[in-house]
Amino acid sequence: MPILRRPAAALAAACALAFAGDAAAVSLMPAPQSMVEHEGVLAIAGRFALAWTGCREPRLDRAAERFQRDLGRLSGIETFAAAGPRLEIACRAADPGALTLQAREAYRLQVSAQGVKIDADGPVGVLRALATLRQLVETGPDGAAALPLIEIDDRPRFAWRGVMIDTARHFMSIESLKRQIDAMEQVKLNVLHLHLSDNEAFRVESRRYPRLHEVAGHGQFYTQAEIADLITYAADRGVRVTPEFDVPGHARAMTLAYPELASNPAGAPAAGAQVLNPASEDTYRFVSRLFDEMAGLFPDAYFHIGGDEVPDEAWAGDPQVEALKAAHNLTTKAQVEAHFHRRIHQALARRGKIVVGWEEVIDTGTLPRDVVVQAWRTSNATARATALGHRTIVSAGYYLDLLNTAAFHYGVDPADTSTAGISPADAQAARKLHPLVARFVTDGVIVQPMAPLTPEQEALVLGGEAPLWAELVSDEMLDSRLWPRAAALAERFWSPRETRDVADMYARLAVQQDRLRRLGLEDEANRARMASRLAPGAWGPLLDLLDLVGPARNMAHDQRVPAAIAGKKIVQHLTAMADAAPVDSLVARAFLARADRAALGDAQARAAVRADFEVWRANHSRIAALAQDHPAVREALPVSADIAEMAAVGVLALDALEAGAPLAPDAAARAKAVLDRADAFEAASAKPIFSFFGKRPPADLIIMVTPGVRRLVEVAGDRGAAP
Ligand code: ACM
Repeated sequence: MPILRRPAAALAAACALAFAGDAAAVSLMPAPQSMVEHEGVLAIAGRFALAWTGCREPRLDRAAERFQRDLGRLSGIETFAAAGPRLEIACRAADPGALTLQAREAYRLQVSAQGVKIDADGPVGVLRALATLRQLVETGPDGAAALPLIEIDDRPRFAWRGVMIDTARHFMSIESLKRQIDAMEQVKLNVLHLHLSDNEAFRVESRRYPRLHEVAGHGQFYTQAEIADLITYAADRGVRVTPEFDVPGHARAMTLAYPELASNPAGAPAAGAQVLNPASEDTYRFVSRLFDEMAGLFPDAYFHIGGDEVPDEAWAGDPQVEALKAAHNLTTKAQVEAHFHRRIHQALARRGKIVVGWEEVIDTGTLPRDVVVQAWRTSNATARATALGHRTIVSAGYYLDLLNTAAFHYGVDPADTSTAGISPADAQAARKLHPLVARFVTDGVIVQPMAPLTPEQEALVLGGEAPLWAELVSDEMLDSRLWPRAAALAERFWSPRETRDVADMYARLAVQQDRLRRLGLEDEANRARMASRLAPGAWGPLLDLLDLVGPARNMAHDQRVPAAIAGKKIVQHLTAMADAAPVDSLVARAFLARADRAALGDAQARAAVRADFEVWRANHSRIAALAQDHPAVREALPVSADIAEMAAVGVLALDALEAGAPLAPDAAARAKAVLDRADAFEAASAKPIFSFFGKRPPADLIIMVTPGVRRLVEVAGDRGAAP
């Protein structure tokens, strides 16, 4: 008999209930389409005994071997002995489209007292089922591994579920990229979009144009052999690698290597111009031959040509461009771009590739309909692109580099039309801030109310992709800037639209992040490494402080922006407390959940929160001692002091609640002062466009536990006010 029936819509509520007290509750991320739990568990004493039917291929043998290894890492049991239960894998059909949008990813999974059965539509479905099976492994009361008895029926909502990693602004090592692919497999993400060329660098070995990597790689690039190996590694895990070489803008690395490609209104082309010359046949020859080479290196059907952010003045006054416009009857910059993209499209189509471009490529609405559009500035772009008949990948609302919470991103649905973007009122205010800002507040970034997508439009939404631009992300920060937030987005892209309970998401996210760490994610190790630079030999208290804070959001921590506004160019070293801080601390989230329960009167939660407050106060004493010798710690001292003050007023609130007495007016005033200060610092960086003009908090750190303390203080105040 099923003890819990969880069709998709009911899943969230059921999980929330289970999490309130049952540590061994099934915790899956992304949530499956449907699952039915039964009473009891299947013990796992060692390696599973595998029995295959249907398609079997070397990739699946390797996947099964990885699964057996991971079983040991997840559970701690030794898996060299074949003492485990039976695992029957039926793969219904071989899948020539395994690495396409048509991949057969659906699967059914059954754990019974007799063993485990996987019934997958195709090989990728087997990978997805094994990812789910890993998430079911729990430690039983006797310390042995076990699986709950369960039936799962699962398939993705969207076929394109990606992350984009910018390797141009900071080089990301192959080792780090493989670690991200490992994590992607665990949460069923299936596209790694690599941004490989930008103003700052060109990152792939080119045999046709070797100056690209020799000069513009700045000593850090991927050899073709490394790329081929990475693609194979990803393919084994059901992940496609889609390359992006950004043209005609964001192309300074190309013109640094080959100055003759640059547009230059003043006459001779200049090395280091940002934009390619759209009026020169040399440019088209170069781009076609380069893309031809890269199309051979990257087997994915989709080839991303960038197409974003060509500055208004890019070609103004360039006599060659003026002649091009006259010859082809083009009047606007957007029409010149469309002319450029059509030429590139022809070259890639001959190669059998499907062009992907950022949303600006449809500004004229005249590109062939087979171009896939990546919406990034507003949700309106999804509506515009699909109304024109373009298939669309949604990134608006999913920019992980903007340092927003998992809840923020999770709340944006790929099919939304009016959610992400800058409101008209904010745009109007932002334009008055500074002429440099005004330049960026174009109509394209303003979100207007729009009708929902029609079913025909919705069918054109391929899925979503979370970009991580890397101006402020170094190789050692990659794990912590992508995860755990990318796992929440994996759920947004895989699970039913109705799966959207935020508290339940955070509870499962914490469990999943721990699994990713046991399987090799290095966010914690790298955070410790970064903290250890700031206070060698004594950094323990720093880690405890970092658990309660986060980096100021959006662009607030980007010190290059105010420097540029002041006419200076600086190098920002990514060695600060704010760089080491987790973006959306799960320790802080767990505190917020406890504080909520404490506010509702849960005695155990109140005791736990009281203990939290003691720890915060004690840690502040340790931080204060460290600050004497370590300047970076000194900078964060006011933040630590405010957390200690929150602990002090939090204790007073708990005292008042337990005594049933009103919170004393002086305590309420103290609480208001520190909580309002923290909220003001958080609000200062809450919106991208205003973030670098807001009041920066000390050490660029915002306090993540504030709402929980405020909740307790408010309840204590209300309780006191009650008769
Ligand atoms: C972009 O963020 N410029 C696509």
